[in-house]
Amino acid sequence: ASSQTWSQRFETALHPAIAQFNASIGFDIELVEYDLTGSQAHAQMLAHTGIITPDEGDQLVKGLDQIRQEYRQGFFSPGVDAEDVHFAVERRLTQILGDLGKKLHTARSRNDQVGTDTRLYLRDQMQEIRAQVREFQTALFHLAEQHVETLIPGYTHLQRAQPISLAHHLMAYFEMAQRDWERLGEVYRRVNVSPLGCGALAGTTFPIDRHYTAELLNFDGVYANSLDGVSDRDFAIEFLSTASLIMMHLSRLSEEVILWASQEFSFVTLKDSCATGSSIMPQKKNPDVPELVRGKTGRVFGHLQAMLVLMKGLPLAYNKDLQEDKEALFDAVKTVRGCLEAMTILLQEGIEFRTSRLAEAVAEDFSNATDVADYLATKGVPFREAYNLVGKVVRTCLAANKLLKDLSLDEWQTLHPAFEADIYQAIAPRQVVAARNSYGGTGFEQVRQAIENARQRLRQD
Ligand code: ARG
Repeated sequence: ASSQTWSQRFETALHPAIAQFNASIGFDIELVEYDLTGSQAHAQMLAHTGIITPDEGDQLVKGLDQIRQEYRQGFFSPGVDAEDVHFAVERRLTQILGDLGKKLHTARSRNDQVGTDTRLYLRDQMQEIRAQVREFQTALFHLAEQHVETLIPGYTHLQRAQPISLAHHLMAYFEMAQRDWERLGEVYRRVNVSPLGCGALAGTTFPIDRHYTAELLNFDGVYANSLDGVSDRDFAIEFLSTASLIMMHLSRLSEEVILWASQEFSFVTLKDSCATGSSIMPQKKNPDVPELVRGKTGRVFGHLQAMLVLMKGLPLAYNKDLQEDKEALFDAVKTVRGCLEAMTILLQEGIEFRTSRLAEAVAEDFSNATDVADYLATKGVPFREAYNLVGKVVRTCLAANKLLKDLSLDEWQTLHPAFEADIYQAIAPRQVVAARNSYGGTGFEQVRQAIENARQRLRQD
């Protein structure tokens, strides 16, 4: 009645709009090479276990190789009548090999097949993404190395808080990315498990060897329960969650770069190679790269949310809803990879810190007020009392339009007899930063150690 693989059971053909609606070939063609690899392993296993002859196994593997060549040369582009990539491959194989091609699907279902393909795809992509995270970290690391003694205002509530080393600020993102890198490795262990051989849902009557295919495909293990094997998408959700965290980190950095590039901050200049202009305002130079990264973050969060909602009501085992996992994964992968690449380039060559402006910025405010309180506390004044006194000093200075460094020694000593001439040194921005030498703090020594430590970690894999 129709061209569908399963059409014998049906009296009439599929409505064309329904065929279109049902088909996944428009996007799952992305999995074709993984489908071929998985099918080759399956064919080898069928021969290995005597389910087909060794010669049949060889021919199937060669036929699948031919399809791979055809695909790479642009000659394999199945249409919607193929329904999905799995049927498309089987159909082409049967054209090439005749009846033998029809043996490939022995002891297999598209349900365990698609799960296998998706994991093989994600496995590769995760390795690529992990390498990209390393490059992003390396770019942060090199910038940090150059800016250990560059000072920048540190903020809480987006209010000037205490000056910090710019390298310390950059290395905070290095640490976030380090967790992303580690998470990718941890999630990978659960992605790399084989569902092949779970069949449609219940296993198979044939004497297959699931460990054999798992080994051929470099999986670390096999699903222990066939129902779970064909219907589990935890691995996709874990990946999307990892991808979401990567995007969240990139987005926070993007937000800062956008602020820093504004005239109000003027902390960075964007290089022409990484900025864009306006169609009407001739003077404009816009931070489109970080804006796009910040914007695209929402897409990846959306895909995570979509997968969670997709799964929550699914009865065991396979349901067609699961076909929806692919576009979410493909788009998340493409988005994360594009954003990592763009942000890495931005750090490598697109951003220049305006060090003289940064030096002015850290000297023009009261972000050394904590250090005055600390100074008194070191001289025996209880910290809270010192803090209250400095609060008053700040208020007086603000009224007189002065900074702390503008107070004379007399004025200091009238405020509290413990003040001595070394107060000026204690509140100089460089000293303020250098003195925060507690473990993990912004003191230059700490920052240098953190950078050394990062150098070691960049060598791990
Ligand atoms: N195209 C389907 C998917 O992506 C393949 C599995 C179809 N299985 C089925 N029983 N209809 O999920």
